[in-house]
Amino acid sequence: MIVRRLGITLTSLFMLAMSGAALAQDRPLLWKPVAPGIWSARVGQPETIDLLKAARIEPQRAALRRLGAPALPEALRRSAGRVGDHRTSLRFPLNETEQLYGFGLNFKRVQQRKRIFNLHIDHYGNADSGRTHAPVPFYVSSAGYGVLINSARYLTVYAGTGLRKDSERPPQIKNRNTDKTWEANPDSDVVEVLVPADGVEVLLFAGPTPLEAVQRYNLYNGGGALPPKWGLGFTQRVPTLYTDRDVNREVDEFDRHDFPLDFIGLEPGWQTRSYPCSFDWDPGRFPDPGRFAREMLGRGVRLNLWLNPYISPDSTIYDEVKPHTGSHTVWNGLVPDLLLRSPRASYSRHFKREHLGIGVSGYKIDEVDGVDGWLWPDVARFPSGLGGEQMRQIYGLLFQRLTTDWFRERNQRTWGLVRGTNAGASALPYVIYNDNYDHRDFITAQVNSSFIGVLWTPEVRASKTAEEWLRRMQAVCFSPLAMLNAWADGTKPWTFPEVERQVREVAMLRMRLLPYIYTAFARYHFEGVPPIRAMYLVPGFKDGGREAKDQFMLGDSLLVAPIFAGQTSRQVTLPPGDWFDFYTGERVGSGGVIEVTPGLDQIPLFVRDGGIIPLIPAARRMPRKGEVLPLEIRHYGQREGALDLYDDDGESFDFEKGAHGWLRLQARRGDDGKLTGGSSQSAGRPVGYRGETWRFMTSR
Ligand code: GAL
Repeated sequence: MIVRRLGITLTSLFMLAMSGAALAQDRPLLWKPVAPGIWSARVGQPETIDLLKAARIEPQRAALRRLGAPALPEALRRSAGRVGDHRTSLRFPLNETEQLYGFGLNFKRVQQRKRIFNLHIDHYGNADSGRTHAPVPFYVSSAGYGVLINSARYLTVYAGTGLRKDSERPPQIKNRNTDKTWEANPDSDVVEVLVPADGVEVLLFAGPTPLEAVQRYNLYNGGGALPPKWGLGFTQRVPTLYTDRDVNREVDEFDRHDFPLDFIGLEPGWQTRSYPCSFDWDPGRFPDPGRFAREMLGRGVRLNLWLNPYISPDSTIYDEVKPHTGSHTVWNGLVPDLLLRSPRASYSRHFKREHLGIGVSGYKIDEVDGVDGWLWPDVARFPSGLGGEQMRQIYGLLFQRLTTDWFRERNQRTWGLVRGTNAGASALPYVIYNDNYDHRDFITAQVNSSFIGVLWTPEVRASKTAEEWLRRMQAVCFSPLAMLNAWADGTKPWTFPEVERQVREVAMLRMRLLPYIYTAFARYHFEGVPPIRAMYLVPGFKDGGREAKDQFMLGDSLLVAPIFAGQTSRQVTLPPGDWFDFYTGERVGSGGVIEVTPGLDQIPLFVRDGGIIPLIPAARRMPRKGEVLPLEIRHYGQREGALDLYDDDGESFDFEKGAHGWLRLQARRGDDGKLTGGSSQSAGRPVGYRGETWRFMTSR
C-alpha cells in the first residue's frame, strides 16, 4: 500500500534491496606491490585526479630498494573497503595499544587515536578538526606502518572511534549508573574513512618502525626537498609597500646590526595590483626590477615574491588566461585552471621572463588553502572538468609543482613558502606558514609536519614583550625556515633592543650549524628521513604519559625543547641513553623526564651520547658555491660516534647526478682510553670543508 502510494514498484524495491545487500559487503583490500615495502589497493573506480597525480610524484625507486623489502604488515591484511551510495568506506584494523600520528598538519595534539577529522584544506583556525593547511590523508602507526588515502576529496576519518558491532575486540559494556570508568567513546579497533566518491586508491607503507614507514612515504613521493644553502639562512619579509630603496636600506640595517640575512621577501606591493594579483612589477616602487635584483644578488641577498594565484583584470596576461579559468572568482580575480596547459603556459612565460629571468629566487604562494568565504565554493566548476572540492584540495600542490619545475629547468634550487598543500609534497621545496600566531600550536605543527612529508615554519611577526620575542626567535631558528614576517608592522630582529644580543646569537648559531642542518636535509632527500622529527619517530622513545608535542629532534643528534613566554623551566622527555647539554657538554640525564631551567639567553638543546655536531664560523650569509670553510666539530658524551657529513655546490641540481660528497667525521677511543677525532672522505666528490678542530664537549 505505502509502496504503491510512494510510486515505488516492487521490482525497484527488490533491485534496491539487492544492490544494498551487495553494497553493504566489505571486501578485503587486495594489496599489490608498487615498490619495495609499498603496496597499493584499489576500491571501486578511483577518480581520474588524485593527490599523487596532482603533485606529479616520481618515486625514488633505487633509494626504496636500498631501504629493503619488508613483508606486508600482517594486521593490514584485514583492511576492507566498500562502495555504495557514491561513497567509499575504508576500514583498517587497530590493535589495543597502537597509537596513531599524522592525519594532516594538526596544531593541538600529536597523538590522534580516538579522534575524528574532516580532512579539508583550510586556514587553520584553532579547531584542530582536520581543516588545515595540509590535510594530508596519511597516518603512521606506532605499530610500524603508514596508510595513505590517495583521494583529492574531503575525507572523514574515524581514527579508532565508532565502535562496530562486529568488533573483534569489543570493550567491556559498562553501567554508567554505578561505574565511574564508563566512557562515552569506547575504544574501537579500526580506523574508518569515508571518501565521497565511487572509488579510491589506498597505499600502504611498511616499517617495521614508524620512521621507516615515513621514510618510504617520503621516498615514494620523490624524496625530501633539498634546500639551497641560502634557503637555510635568515629571511626577512618586508612591509607591503616597501620600495626598492627601502629594501636596500633594510639590507644596510641588517649589515649594520651584524645580523644574518640571506633572502628578502617582498609582500603584495611589489605588484601593480594585489588581491587579485597582476604579477607585474609596480613601476613606482620598483622602476627597474632587473637592476634591483642584480643589486641584491651583488649584496648576497636573494628575492622571494609574495603572490596569490588569482589574476587581476589589470594584469598584462589577464586576457590570455581568462578563457581558462574557473566559474567563480576570488576577490574578483579569476582562478586559472592549473590542470590545463594553456594557463600554465601563460603563467610560465610571464613569470620566467619577469621574475626568474631577472634573478628572483623563489615565491611565497599565499591563499591556496582557503577560508570558505574567500575562496571559490565547492559548487565551482573548472574548464578541465574538475569541481571546486577537488580543485581546492590540490590547488596548492599544482602551483608548487608549476613553480618548482621552472627553477628545475634552470638547474637552480629554490626555497619558498606555501599556505596550502597536501599528500605527495615531500619533494616540493616549500615550507608552510599560517597567520594564527600561537607559539605552542606552531611548535606542535612543527612536530606533526614530520609525519606527513611537509615542512613548517613557526614564523615570527610581533610580540608583546622582549621575552616572547626572544623565545619565538629562538624557536624559529630551529625550523626549516628562519623567518621574520614583518609585512604588517615592519618589525626587525632588533625590535626589542634589550634582547638584541641574544637574538643575534641564536640566528648566528643557526648559520654556524649549516653543515649539520644541511646534512639532515640531505638525508631527507636521499633516505626520506625528515630533518625535523617528532620524538615518536625516535627508536625506543617512551613519552611516559606526557604527550611529546613541545619538543622535537633536528637531525639524529640534537633535541630541541623550545621555551614559551612566561616559562622559566620546562620538562623534557629524553629518549633512552645519556643526553648532554649542547652549550656546556654537561650530562643532563638518561631517558625519562628531566626539568630544565635554562635562563633567558638560550633555547634548551641536548645532544645524544656520542653525538657529533659540526659547525662553520659565524657569518652573515650562508656559504656560496665553491667556498671552502674550516669546521669546528663538537663531540658530546662518552661514546664513540660518527657522522657522515654531506656537501654539494649548495645551489644546483648537479647533486642528483653525483656531484656531491660525504665526509665521515669519527670520534674514536684510542689505546690510551682517550677520544680522538678524525675525518675521511667516505663517498663522492670532495666536500667544501677544509681544516677541522675537534672539541670534546664532555670528556676525553
Ligand atoms: C596573508 C599572509 C601573510 C602576508 C599577508 C600579506 O595572507 O598569510 O603572511 O603575506 O597575506 O597581505
